[in-house]
Amino acid sequence: MSISIGIHDLSFATSEFVLPHTALAEHNGTDIGKYHVGIGQRSMSVPAADEDIVTMAATAAAPIVARHSKDRIRTVVFATESSIDQAKAGGVYVHSLIGLPSACRVVELKQACYGATAALQFAIGLVRRDPAQQVLVIASDVSKYELDSPGEATQGAAAVAMLVGADPALVRIEEPSGLFTADVMDFWRPNYRDTALVDGQESISAYLQAVEGAWKDYAQQDGRSLEEFAAFVYHQPFTKMAYKAHRHLLEFCGHDADRDALERALGSTTAYNTVVGNSYTASVYLGLAALLDRADDLTGRPVAFLSYGSGSVAEFFAGTVVAGYREHLRTEENREAIARRKPVDYAGYRALHERSLPADGGDHSTPAQTTGPYRLAGISGHKRVYEAR
Ligand code: HMG
Repeated sequence: MSISIGIHDLSFATSEFVLPHTALAEHNGTDIGKYHVGIGQRSMSVPAADEDIVTMAATAAAPIVARHSKDRIRTVVFATESSIDQAKAGGVYVHSLIGLPSACRVVELKQACYGATAALQFAIGLVRRDPAQQVLVIASDVSKYELDSPGEATQGAAAVAMLVGADPALVRIEEPSGLFTADVMDFWRPNYRDTALVDGQESISAYLQAVEGAWKDYAQQDGRSLEEFAAFVYHQPFTKMAYKAHRHLLEFCGHDADRDALERALGSTTAYNTVVGNSYTASVYLGLAALLDRADDLTGRPVAFLSYGSGSVAEFFAGTVVAGYREHLRTEENREAIARRKPVDYAGYRALHERSLPADGGDHSTPAQTTGPYRLAGISGHKRVYEAR
């Protein structure tokens, strides 16, 4: 008999600051309708000088280890595309900050925004091998484009931590998966750059091609039919992209893609992404958090996931929402993670955007800005120094 494996707990964190799109529009003379309606974004999370993917990841993961036994977690998979080190996994810092036992393997995974879905699927494989074990999957990213570029409006930052195990309390992940890979240069970031390069329109059509390809494979693997799904959780680089993607899928399958059909499928999934911005690997799972927190009772209902990472890899898969899931949600904490952010003005955001850690090997402390539980205190001898409050 096949065991049920999936997401047992989910927690997210985002940054100290938030830039409303009205401030960006005022700075660059853009009609706010382009941001609010055209791309579907209201604001974006901006990390403080003493925040990074590690502090956000630890903040997301700490409530999970507080609620569950640490002893069953023998693997941490940290997915990111805004890595802070070419060798050491960011998850090793997190492992130490949240006090996991030393009997644990920790790795970092990368394939643009798709990485967390690879982590989830690999975690399921590990749990299938030994259902007594749990895997902590963390997706953490800071999305950074050049100032005054079209991509600037689609930045953001967040981390999602998920505990993956047998008999999950939230969502059972199903087989099969529909898979798609194509070697395209729609979005990339060479090692010598801290901002991404992107061909905006190419990236949108690459995403749509990937949706189609992953869906075709899912159908060939005898997946569910489109009508069975209660909702569709897409990777959301900006929330309008989910609407473009779902319209494409509905039309590809010969269905009407009217406003009501799109709203029914996507409406509850965009609430967090529209105010957080692109959180890369975390984005699709922020969509799931919003869906679970906001939708009417989903008990027993199948939900579709479409995870896309530029370059490109996509996966279409399904999960079934487990009875009693509402008792395990973190709805209040999720709202608070968003509400606690302090608005930053355009000049303040620009100064933070232009900051980088000194690379001279000296001792440098970072300004104390975050009020979160973990901070990047500085850098010394090329080593990042973290502290827990
Ligand atoms: P742009 O080219 O400046 O914008 O930047 P645009 O001219 O295409 O306008 C955007 C939309 O606003 C259009 O709607 C306009 O009509 C509308 P659409 O035709 O697309 O439906 N618009 C207005 N609407 C209402 N009132 C107005 C108004 N003016 C215009 N006044 C772009 C947009 C997304 C290209 C840019 O922000 C960008 O390059 N972003 C980064 C790339 C990106 O997010 N791509 C998404 C797909 S790739 C992906 O998801 C992977 C990624 O997450 C990375 C990873 O995997 O690691 C990015």
